[in-house]
Amino acid sequence: MCGIVGYVGHRQAYPIIIKGLHRLEYRGYDSAGVALIGKDGQIGLYKCKGKVDDLERFMAGKDAESTIGIGHTRWATHGAPNDANAHPHFSQSGRLALIHNGIIENFRVLKDALISHGYTFRSSTDSEVLVNLIEYVQDTNECTLEEAVRIALRQVVGAYAIAVIKRGDPDRIIAARQSSPMAIGIGEGEYFISSDAASIIDYTQKFVYLKDGEVTTIEKGKPLQIKNLYGEPSKVDIQKLEMSISQLEKGGFPHFMLKEIHEQPDTLMDCIRGRVNPDTREIVLSGVLDNKEHFLQAGRIIFVACGTSWHASLIGEHLIENLCRIPVEVEYASEFRYRNPIIRKDDVVIAVSQSGETADTLAAIDIAKRAGAFVYGICNVVGSSIARATDSGTYIHVGPEIGVASTKAFTGQVTVMTMLALLIGKLRGTVDSAFYHEVAGALLDLPEAIRKVLKKAPEVEKLSRIFTYAHNFIYLGRGYNYPTALEGALKLKEISYIHAEGLPAAEMKHGPIALIDAEMPTVVIATLDHTYEKTVSNIEEIKARGGKIIAVISEGDTQLRHRADYTIEVPGTVECLMPIISIIPLQLMAYYIAVSKGRNVDQPRNLAKSVTVE
Ligand code: G6P
Repeated sequence: MCGIVGYVGHRQAYPIIIKGLHRLEYRGYDSAGVALIGKDGQIGLYKCKGKVDDLERFMAGKDAESTIGIGHTRWATHGAPNDANAHPHFSQSGRLALIHNGIIENFRVLKDALISHGYTFRSSTDSEVLVNLIEYVQDTNECTLEEAVRIALRQVVGAYAIAVIKRGDPDRIIAARQSSPMAIGIGEGEYFISSDAASIIDYTQKFVYLKDGEVTTIEKGKPLQIKNLYGEPSKVDIQKLEMSISQLEKGGFPHFMLKEIHEQPDTLMDCIRGRVNPDTREIVLSGVLDNKEHFLQAGRIIFVACGTSWHASLIGEHLIENLCRIPVEVEYASEFRYRNPIIRKDDVVIAVSQSGETADTLAAIDIAKRAGAFVYGICNVVGSSIARATDSGTYIHVGPEIGVASTKAFTGQVTVMTMLALLIGKLRGTVDSAFYHEVAGALLDLPEAIRKVLKKAPEVEKLSRIFTYAHNFIYLGRGYNYPTALEGALKLKEISYIHAEGLPAAEMKHGPIALIDAEMPTVVIATLDHTYEKTVSNIEEIKARGGKIIAVISEGDTQLRHRADYTIEVPGTVECLMPIISIIPLQLMAYYIAVSKGRNVDQPRNLAKSVTVE
């Protein structure tokens, strides 16, 4: 979390940095700041609690003229979100200014050592310790700033993407990375840095993604050179990022989340295009076909993921077990990494992540690779750390997701998992050819079905207004739609701050049913599938106890239309694809309830989109 951005070149740095910070706000938004080197060589450092808009107001009337600068938007880890803890941080002498994304785990030891050398601290952050450590190293070693950064970072345990500038040096930024993302954008005699290449796509499409343990001095007008922490040169691998700026704007919608919900017919088409042949309904995923033997010989598949990606993985489990007959486990990456898991050489580990930067998922990949497993990635962000750390993979290609609550990434992930399961099933001979073609055809029809559901947005909006009073919600689903219930509940929690619990419908009677009363609405996904009748019985059990039911039902289901208190009808498809359809009304409902409650939908409190710390 935290977004960092920087510029050195011939243009004015401040507008570039502010625009970049706005685009990076999904990474954290509790305080923001910039450091600029003025004509006199002095560093002007401006920062405040709040969002980037607050920083802009704070900057009004201040001298921001400079062709070099660094900026930061924060998601607090060490120290409360206040002015003092906001980045950038000055070193003790004021000679250096630093921005940092990550966590310095051994900061206490380093801080104590610096205090014993006479250093005092203005903030409670680990980042201020780092800038002072760099200054101390430079003073004691009488070396260049880059050398000081390298020496200092060799003493650091933890995660970081940092950028440092020095008073009197308006041509250079030192940048380094370990476990937190850092892209360097290359212009004509100018450089940009950012936690996310998309934030600076207006200026360049040429990027170098720093790797772990790499440091660089980016210098106006000079070629890029990258070194490791010991000063040995690394390869400079320039990559092109294709993205249109309109993908980063709200496009007439009041929030990114609503735009992203409505984009889903198109994003799913982008995800499927070139992978499902519309004429033959054959599936091509080069990441699988090029590594066939791993999937053919797989003794087990283990999904590792967090949050929404973990929910999508639960659907992946059903798909793969059903279609490929390979045993599947779904693990929270954060648990997997710390529990000495049993990983065999014939295991295939599938890491699922929208951002491709989630620290726990990256750590899980590392463990799996060290144990000799083949690691496959399902990511959205092209060139992200997870995409690069995995042996192979498939991008979901749903375009930048900016709303903090994930929507189109979830449907994209389930779509990729369906294609993956079909293809592996076909390779292993475990899926019936007629069924394979039926599901592949159904994938192609999904965008149209989603369009139909989206037309119900006004209906869902009206319904949502009724439920803004509720303090608790239960979401129920079975089979493929149990993860949909979990995901629906997560959406509501994340953006409306209403407590919501997702459960397998039949588990209700083992405890949670005690919670049911007229004040506790239950959302049930009760579309026509092989557990439909059982779910209807669960609905009756809730109604018998005075509970209110909002049911997502299949078009034309008159039985539930009369039994549930409120219904949202959705078109049908093959059972395994139903989550992609039934999640849409739940996304809309969470959105409209949050809006009715006046919440900040795109930037809910305490959350960040890209969780690059443990
Ligand atoms: C954060 C986000 C969630 C996301 C999770 C996993 O908690 O707020 O929306 O599902 O991280 O992120 P990833 O990028 O790995 O899918």
